[in-house]
Formats: sequence, C-alpha cells, structure tokens
Amino acid sequence: MGKSNVSLRGKHILGLEDFTPDEIEMVLLTAREMKNIIHRDIKKVPALRGKSIVTLFYEPSTRTRSSFETAGKYLGADVVNITAGTSSIVKGESLRDTLLTVEAMGFDAIVMRHKEEGAAAYAAKVVSHPVIVNAGDGAHAHPSQGLLNLFTLLDHKGHLKGLKVAIIGDILYSRVARSDIQGMRKMGIEVHLAGPRTLLPRFLAEEPGIFVHDRIEEAIEGADAINVLRIQLERQKAGLFPSRREYARIFGLNQERLKLAKPDALVLHPGPMNKGLEISPDIAYGNQSVIQELVENGVAIRMALLTLILTGGKNREADH
Ligand code: NCD
Repeated sequence: MGKSNVSLRGKHILGLEDFTPDEIEMVLLTAREMKNIIHRDIKKVPALRGKSIVTLFYEPSTRTRSSFETAGKYLGADVVNITAGTSSIVKGESLRDTLLTVEAMGFDAIVMRHKEEGAAAYAAKVVSHPVIVNAGDGAHAHPSQGLLNLFTLLDHKGHLKGLKVAIIGDILYSRVARSDIQGMRKMGIEVHLAGPRTLLPRFLAEEPGIFVHDRIEEAIEGADAINVLRIQLERQKAGLFPSRREYARIFGLNQERLKLAKPDALVLHPGPMNKGLEISPDIAYGNQSVIQELVENGVAIRMALLTLILTGGKNREADH
C-alpha cells in the first residue's frame, strides 16, 4: 500500500493501460483524503494555489467537465473552460493551434475530451509544458471514469481483488468499458461482459480474467457489481444495434435480472442514462444504485489526479 517511490508528477493521464497497480492504488488512497475535503463545511484547500487548469471539450458533457472544474476549484487552482460550440473551433481552428494557444497562456494542465481516439495522446505530443488529462477520446479511453468506478467499488466492498463485476451493453463503442476493463484487471477483479454480439468484441475473452457472455443473465449471476453502459447511440453504425425495444427486452437491466447478482450487488452507470433502454428506472433510483455516489466520487478522483500530476501530492498533509 502507498509505495513511497510511486509518483505521477508530470504524467499525462491518457489511459489506464499506462498505470501500474501501485499507481492506481495511490490515486484511490488520495481520493479517500479528497472525499473528506468535499464533506467539509468549507471545501477549499490551497494544494493547487497558483496552478491553472483549462478544460477543453469537443464533445458534450455534464458530469465530467463540471467535476474536473469543481475539483480544480476545491483545490484552489484557477480553472477556465473552453467548449467547442462557443470557441474559435467553430471558425475552423485546428486542434493543434488551439492547443498551442492554450499552452501559450501558461496553463499547467489541459483536461481534454474529443471524439477522435488518440486525440489526447496527440495533444501530449503537441504541447511541452502542460500535463494532458484525457477526459474521453472517442471510443478509446476515459481513465478518470475507470478510476472513480474502482474507488466506489473499494469504498463499498473494502477490497477489489477477487470481486466479480459484470459490464453490460455497448462494449464496442464504450470508452468507459475499455478503461474499466483495464483498471479492474490490474486490481484483480474478474470481469464478465455481455451485450449484443455485434457490440461485443470476442477477442477480449482471450485475456485472463475476462469472460464474454451472450446472455446478460450469465454475466450477472453472482456478481458483486453490475456496470450498465449507455448505448452510444451517436457512435452506432447501421445494423449493429437491434431496435430499442429488442435491446431493452434482451439486455436491459430489470429487477428480475438484478436478482441473479449477489443480494448486496451494486449497480453502476456512468450517465447519462437511457432509462427504459439499458436500465429500468426503478433500478436506477433503487437502493442498490450508486449512480449518484459515482458523481461525488468523481470529484474526489479528479481532485486526486490533479494533485498528483501537478504536485506529486507531496505537500498534501501540510495543506490540511
Ligand atoms: C461517459 C462518457 O462520456 O464517456 N459519460 C461520462 O463521462 N459521465 C459515458 C457515456 O457517455 O456513455
């Protein structure tokens, strides 16, 4: 636990494939401290005072963008938001030029969301000073979401190794699924995937600890947690997706299916939800759902990530 030689200072956060289990553990431990700050009356510490962060979003977002912004502000950083629809991006400015412009203003971190896979890795090559945090690049990765899911599982179950987690739905287009699978495998979680054949990359079953099922019931059986994915309607290619009604009937999470999991199984969904499609409303708001808690934990995880990459986390104690 908490190996002292582990440091994320200056590291671009592109995907969980680049993380060691020790690094993941350090983020989770730091997030625990950060969650205490969120619960304080005065939610402000000077850990990132004098640092500046820009969020650069080329795709819509409610939770992720505002939670990075909130995280930065609770830590005393200056935070500026750029969204595609209201910036020079609509005038055709290239990603490269936008990144260079942002760098010239002296930002220390760029939190970025883009519809193209690899956009964050590209950004990391273009800029020299700021650290890049990938907040979602196409169907590739969403590392902070993977980390906040792990954090929530750890919070409830007390450990990660040996848990059985079902991930249901649009695995093919889901960056959340990809980051979940990587993070969970690194922490010793057994991952069971289910979804329509056309949205379920079969080769994943060749990896140890990953099981691919045609039927959602098989994946859920005995699970400690079920992560329901949003059907990425905006990324579907024609023919890969059954009708909404068919999908809900065969793959939707309903009460009957939830009963197959352990009685204390948690239900996760990254949001935004298509209620009545991938998840029934009674489960989304039911007592096994941790969907709102994921949002709070998302702020804690992003506070941890920003602190660790911008300061190494060294002066954390002194700030409290
Ligand atoms: C996810 C995303 O944008 O990848 N949402 C989120 O970050 N809360 C999941 C999704 O859009 O399906």
